[in-house]
Amino acid sequence: MGAVAYVNGRYLALKQASVNVEDRGFQFGDGIYEVVYVQDGRLIDAPLHMARLQRSLREIAILPPLSLNALEVVIREVLRRNRVSTGLVYIQISRGVARRNHAFPATPVRPSLIITARHGPALPRDAASWAGSAITLPDQRWARCDVKSTNLLANVLAKQMARHAGAYEAILYDAAQTITEGASSSVWMVDENGTLRTRQLGREILPGCTRAALFAELHTAGIAVAETAFTLAELKRAREIFVTSATSFVKPIIRLDGASVANGAPGPVTIALFERYLRHMQTG
Ligand code: PDD
Repeated sequence: MGAVAYVNGRYLALKQASVNVEDRGFQFGDGIYEVVYVQDGRLIDAPLHMARLQRSLREIAILPPLSLNALEVVIREVLRRNRVSTGLVYIQISRGVARRNHAFPATPVRPSLIITARHGPALPRDAASWAGSAITLPDQRWARCDVKSTNLLANVLAKQMARHAGAYEAILYDAAQTITEGASSSVWMVDENGTLRTRQLGREILPGCTRAALFAELHTAGIAVAETAFTLAELKRAREIFVTSATSFVKPIIRLDGASVANGAPGPVTIALFERYLRHMQTG
């Protein structure tokens, strides 16, 4: 049996699955999404992802196409039909199909719901083998990055620049040279004084679910973290840098713009948090 996608109430062979050309997700990026890691059949940080999905819908005035319970049933069915027990599930909701016109359809249409799943990646063995590099770039995104919109053009272009430079992530900074986040991750650092920092939440960044789960872990462990923005210059002087997301977990960044971060190996705070998050995934 090949890969299966759920599209608006039907389970279809992925190869044949498609959306209407007038879908507003396709025409305008008028939709939202979530990516959830699945470990041995468990949806990691599911309550956080579901709460953010509902918030994103609310912020752009799309009514939920299904209740949360029904959504979870469909997600589980997509995982089952794809035989995915460890991998990723992707949930996308757009405003729906309507004759192309920038404004919302005059008479409300049914939102489109698409769910796909794929195998892997397996959990990384250790922080050192999972480490990667990053470049820094100006943040060219819109003013509501707290909404997990499918409109990802600036993120796509930044990620492509990173790939072109042989780097894993593009870390973005605003007009004031303050770091916002990665093209698809939250950014953390241990500053030159040894303080663990990540930017405060606001409209400039996505409220990362991995970020939130790690905050709970830090709280339990009694490890201090400061939610304060930092500049590009401070990032370049960091002792440690790592990024977090549903697909990168806690990923050490050991090279920044071609230069080693500290001695070029994951630092002790990063390693401790990498291990804590992996434990959280296996038990939480
Ligand atoms: N991206 N910031 C941005 C811009 C992101 O796209 C993501 C996640 C994050 C981290 O959020 P979370 O911890 O909830 O995954 C932060 C997903 C993985 C993606 O677009 O594929």
